[in-house]
Amino acid sequence: MHKFIWDTKLELGNSLIDRQHQYLFDLANQLMSVKKKSGLTLAFMRLYKHVREHFSDEEALMYTSDYPNYLEHQILHQNMLNELNETSTKICKENLSKKELESFIEKWIEHICLFDADFVKYIKLKNSTHHQEHSIRVVS
Ligand SMILES: [Fe+2]
Ligand SMILES: [Fe+2]
Repeated sequence: MHKFIWDTKLELGNSLIDRQHQYLFDLANQLMSVKKKSGLTLAFMRLYKHVREHFSDEEALMYTSDYPNYLEHQILHQNMLNELNETSTKICKENLSKKELESFIEKWIEHICLFDADFVKYIKLKNSTHHQEHSIRVVS
């Protein structure tokens, strides 16, 4: 059963970021549906690896476009990685509840809607302004 359903409303308009967010949903669903501990560890490792790559891609994008809230966003990512590390410890000790996992993913969806949406909007605006300036320069 798929717990987290990707909605086009979550699309931010940057193909790399949107693809990564969508894949995150797939991995979260896989994680929610595993039964055995060995499967849980593997599904978690996959999610963790993807999250690290995704955060570093987002941070590279923010950094290269001089996004003003870069540092704040980076701290939010760091906090989420810390939570993922705690989750990993719980998986090892076999005391992770599906409810905890579910609320973590829900927080993630909020992060996408608020914080990721903000930086993608900034980058898109910046790129369009840059294009306009460039075309004005070409015309004059
Ligand atoms: Fe993100
Ligand atoms: Fe983010």
